[in-house]
Amino acid sequence: MTAKINTELKSTIVIVGGNGDLALRKLIPALFGLNQRGLIDSVGKIIGTGRAPLDRDSYIALVDEKRKLFSGNTDAENAAIESEWQKFIQLLDYCKLEATNSAQYDDLAEMITIDGKRAPVTYYLSTVPSLYGAICENLKTHGLASEIDQVVLEKPLGHNLETCNEIHAAVAKVFDESKTFRIDHYLGKETVQNLLTLRFSNALFNPLWSNRYIDNIQITVAESIGVAGRAAFYGKTGALRDMVQNHLLQILSMVAMEPPSKLNADAIRNEKVKVLEALSPITSENVRDNVVRGQYTDGAVDSESVVGFLEEDDYKDNDGDSSKFSNTETFVALKAEVHNWRWAGVPFYLRTGKRLRRRYSEIVIEFKRQPFSLFEDDPNDFANKMVITIQPEENIRLHTLHKKPGLSGKLKLQPVALDLSVDPEDGSQSYDAYERLLLDVVNGDQTLFMRSDEVEAAWRWTDSIISSWTDVGLNVKPYPSGTMGPTKSLALPERDDRSWHES
Ligand code: BG6
Repeated sequence: MTAKINTELKSTIVIVGGNGDLALRKLIPALFGLNQRGLIDSVGKIIGTGRAPLDRDSYIALVDEKRKLFSGNTDAENAAIESEWQKFIQLLDYCKLEATNSAQYDDLAEMITIDGKRAPVTYYLSTVPSLYGAICENLKTHGLASEIDQVVLEKPLGHNLETCNEIHAAVAKVFDESKTFRIDHYLGKETVQNLLTLRFSNALFNPLWSNRYIDNIQITVAESIGVAGRAAFYGKTGALRDMVQNHLLQILSMVAMEPPSKLNADAIRNEKVKVLEALSPITSENVRDNVVRGQYTDGAVDSESVVGFLEEDDYKDNDGDSSKFSNTETFVALKAEVHNWRWAGVPFYLRTGKRLRRRYSEIVIEFKRQPFSLFEDDPNDFANKMVITIQPEENIRLHTLHKKPGLSGKLKLQPVALDLSVDPEDGSQSYDAYERLLLDVVNGDQTLFMRSDEVEAAWRWTDSIISSWTDVGLNVKPYPSGTMGPTKSLALPERDDRSWHES
């Protein structure tokens, strides 16, 4: 019998894939962090599900072991939070659940029902996306998905527009869009959210934010890690699908969107989707000029020797054959254009890759140069830039020119970076992106989640790039690990007399 939903009860979170890497590395620690701060007192139960036949105690032991491992805490640090951890694990439980085994959903129903009543549930789907449809259908059949329950979808949302549409259609049969939270964890990063305040609360920047004063915009998401541990998945995916389709395009849409009429989820997402829809298609005619694909070979990162993409160990766990991935890009750089009034003529250079020189993500807003030079030092070599660093540290620097102090007769110029970073003394800035996003899920706020039309517009654009590079046979260029990608990627802005900002 279907349980009656009681909204007075504390809510339940069910993590499907609760013993998977993401849940153990990010989701459970984030929920623990929120619980420690007293921010999710409205949650009464957290149930992990998985195919493994674990009981509650062994699940908690697993979660505890991984939390300690991934946090990197010392024994003393762990001891200091032990009582908070003991309090948190009272919320935890485990249910063995194979996504397509309908009978096992009865066990889940039993676990979340007390005296014929149950609380509203958030289902966090952190498993293979091709199962999302079957999971939602089973939840519905078992009376576990009502109009007040919510679902959270982890990426990748499909492999292309077609498979994304299939997932969206299957989920939409069960959950309304207003109850569907599509996660892009980059939107949970503090500096990415700060783009909204920076742009729309400062009279200083708002008038400058267009093709009148901005020369070009660069978005770099550089990773030093390789794909070890996920090589087989990554081999079929590549950097464009794994990073550009979601994280980089989400950042781009936050940088380029028009001011929303209100600060609510739909007003913001209406503006973001317009940017994605305004991206000029990259076609077979122009893909060679606008896209560079790369694949890492062996080299050294942080003074350690590393193997190339095709030599990664974990192919051995699969069929051992990496040659079928010889044309998968682990790096991509591209020049995009947002075809509208505000941005016509301003190139957006995007790049991302694995095994690059170091891990950092930044947005560079490069302003137009002065039309005329008053000073003997040639300021035309210099452009004002706003450099927004997303990670590893979060800060914003405005690159300006100043007088070099001193008595020398001539006015000499020197670059000075004005630091616009916020550094709260109470440490409130230091939370993980998943904490921000899970808190918003618990509070039902969709502002930082992607609406279906945004994800679809992004796929439409990246699909056209993939079919264009397939058409013209644009192959990957090798780059040694520990560099910033194939040298050809330098030519992308250089062809326009510009260059990548190197931090
Ligand atoms: C994930 C990608 O979405 O983002 C990974 O699938 C990538 O390949 C990761 O490593 C990067 O996230 P972050 O927060 O470490 O920059």
